[in-house]
Amino acid sequence: MQYRVLGATGLELSAVGLGAWAIGGPGYAFGWGPQQDNDSIETIHAALDAGINWIDTAPVYGLGHSEIVVGKALAEVSERPMISSKCGLVWQPGTSRVRNELTAASVTTECEESLRRLKVDCIDIYHIHWPVPAERIEEAWEAIGRLIDAGKVRLGAVSNFSRSQLEQVQAIRPVSVLQPPYSMLERSVEQEHLPYCVEHGIGVLSYSPLQNGLLTGKVTPDWVAALPKSDWRKRNSEFNSPRLEANLDLVTALQNEAEQLTATVGQLAIAWVLQNPAVSAAIVGARKPEQIRETAQAADTTFPGDLMHRVSELIAARDARVAGGA
Ligand SMILES: NC(=O)c1ccc[n+]([C@@H]2O[C@H](COP(=O)([O-])OP(=O)(O)OC[C@H]3O[C@@H](n4cnc5c(N)ncnc54)[C@H](OP(=O)(O)O)[C@@H]3O)[C@@H](O)[C@H]2O)c1
Repeated sequence: MQYRVLGATGLELSAVGLGAWAIGGPGYAFGWGPQQDNDSIETIHAALDAGINWIDTAPVYGLGHSEIVVGKALAEVSERPMISSKCGLVWQPGTSRVRNELTAASVTTECEESLRRLKVDCIDIYHIHWPVPAERIEEAWEAIGRLIDAGKVRLGAVSNFSRSQLEQVQAIRPVSVLQPPYSMLERSVEQEHLPYCVEHGIGVLSYSPLQNGLLTGKVTPDWVAALPKSDWRKRNSEFNSPRLEANLDLVTALQNEAEQLTATVGQLAIAWVLQNPAVSAAIVGARKPEQIRETAQAADTTFPGDLMHRVSELIAARDARVAGGA
């Protein structure tokens, strides 16, 4: 496993981290359908065996369930990995309705609840999950600063922030980490966010490198049709016509490229993200041990420059189709 320094923090993270969104299971609008906890725990242990030394979760994933499962899996290991979690999305116990909340009081309470579910004294990387409501991001960031001072959080981080929102909170207290989406199909952070992070020593933990499983080679229209209603991807535009056809043609072309190097398309998709020098590490989701065993290898897979050049052309062709209403 390749390890990389996280921005200016000095921490060494595995280039692939495990994302624990899907292991939260169903139960709210962005659930991933039924998930067995024993599969999740085996997946977490397989990730650690592969050399992964950090796990990303959030209270909202399964409304507390993902953090509980991560806590349970880590209680069984001798050396716990670093934990990344978040605040800013809350729910009333007993309901599945989620709302954005960034008051200082809420951030403090949410952190205490995460520490309890995860069974740890300190969360290594703690994010504002979404900058909503925007007028409260400074209040929430100051609250995270107090959690750092109290030793309950090691590094303060933000996710899904615009460049100007990053600048806004950076002026109060340096941001250690940005967690943005980044994949072959979602490259909106390339122009503004990534250069800003490089300039300011902000580590970048990019999420959804497989575009939620779409860039693995297993997805077909029938596969999408068979997803349970409780899997949010069933209604996501990338998994539905007209984008789905353009995306699947891209995946087929990528598969041909990857196979020549005895790699999988998923490994190619993750390696593509990691080859951007602004990216510190990629958060890769998995719900079965064999999935993370395969994708963890992407951290040590290098693809030659001419292949990456052909990949850029394939991505551009897909983009043109999508822009044309494809
Ligand atoms: N900050 C944020 O707002 C935010 C947003 C999104 C994600 N994240 C973080 O980033 C993590 C990763 O993103 P993600 O979970 O959206 O997506 P991802 O890594 O792009 O895709 C993960 C999904 O792909 C499928 N998969 C993984 N490995 C596979 C393999 N080897 N073969 C076939 N299928 C495979 C699995 O789902 P199936 O088996 O069900 O297909 C898995 O749950 C999340 O878990 C979360 O920690 C953060």
